[in-house]
Amino acid sequence: MRRLWRPVLDRIAPYDAGKPLELLSAELGLPALVRLSANENPLGPSPAVVAAIERDAPRVHLYPDGGSHALRDALGRRLGLAPDQIVIGNGADELLGLIAWAAFDPGDEVVVPQPSFEPYTTVVTLTGAEVRQSPLAGYEMDLDDMLRRVTARTKAVILCSPHNPATTIVREGPLTRFLAALGDDPPLVVLDEAYRDFVDDPDYPDGVSLLARFPRLLVLRTFSKIAGLAGLRVGYVLGGADAMDRLNRARAPYNVNRLGQVAALAALEDREHRERTREVVLEERRFLTTELGKRGAPRRHHRARRRWRRVPGPPADLDRAQGDERAPARSAGPRAVAARPAPRSRPTSDGRTRKIGTAPPDFHGTMLPCSREESIWSASSSCSASSRSLA
Ligand SMILES: Cc1ncc(COP(=O)(O)O)c(C=O)c1O
Repeated sequence: MRRLWRPVLDRIAPYDAGKPLELLSAELGLPALVRLSANENPLGPSPAVVAAIERDAPRVHLYPDGGSHALRDALGRRLGLAPDQIVIGNGADELLGLIAWAAFDPGDEVVVPQPSFEPYTTVVTLTGAEVRQSPLAGYEMDLDDMLRRVTARTKAVILCSPHNPATTIVREGPLTRFLAALGDDPPLVVLDEAYRDFVDDPDYPDGVSLLARFPRLLVLRTFSKIAGLAGLRVGYVLGGADAMDRLNRARAPYNVNRLGQVAALAALEDREHRERTREVVLEERRFLTTELGKRGAPRRHHRARRRWRRVPGPPADLDRAQGDERAPARSAGPRAVAARPAPRSRPTSDGRTRKIGTAPPDFHGTMLPCSREESIWSASSSCSASSRSLA
């Protein structure tokens, strides 16, 4: 019998992004369904982005700029980097795959925090390289443990700061000490900063400023979150020109679509929208943190001021709110929240933890005081039907 598929695929489960929001809304009959599980921008895209897409839409019969030149130039100017230190990807997701494809061979080792953003493990496993899991210490990446796991066969270490899903950051001192401790011939270090724009800790380092000192560092960023372009798939990686040259050899010729490129350029110009997004997320996070704290949610994360919060207990725990000044928002009618339970298999999960993002500004006040009857918490994975039992 001919063996068609690579055996390594047996070790990979397809990524379950859940049902599309539109389908879920239609199934539940709830137009005001808010998905808190995908960490999307609560304000939507900038109007300038929408206009730029409309302007370029008649040109979609033309291939995009295969080198994303204008976007790399604009990013380079903002970040103080040369354009050849930047590769744009079809989301940061694609760039993770490109790094793996370009760098990892079977038998290589890659140190990955556990748990962490699932695609890290997937892309490493796909190449035939071995994932070396480094368990979180509480909710923090354990840099000492990661260091201990680095061997002569280690091709890369992946850091995620703020960490998804634990929300914690690596501060400047520990990060630079970690990078220095890797020595003169270090592995690649992929620093995923997808959520950097939502950090308000002054000790949060700027990965870009470390590139000159640590040439094997690769900094990963995205337009999906702060710029609200998740649906267009635009991410970027920053690093040494030689590393970018390697990635470009593995990259598909037109990997970033035309509308994504014009939208990202327009988003870069719209500083006000980005600032408003940040303000909304930070304000709603403060509000949610305070309110959930009043309802018994553990506050152990608050020091690091990250975007996500662990919410213990079943969603119905949220129905005890009283006297909230935003309660009138309830009159807006039935609304729903789509959250995703952290899998029980995760070491930091008790199976009852919800990872939640920030909803549009008027929403949290609605969510907190909602009663069992009007609250439908839908797991965005396959169990959306059973979540109706909460209604
Ligand atoms: C930590 C982290 N890195 C990368 C990504 C992927 O970003 P993109 O939408 O640019 O593919 C995500 C998406 O949620 C993420 O949470």
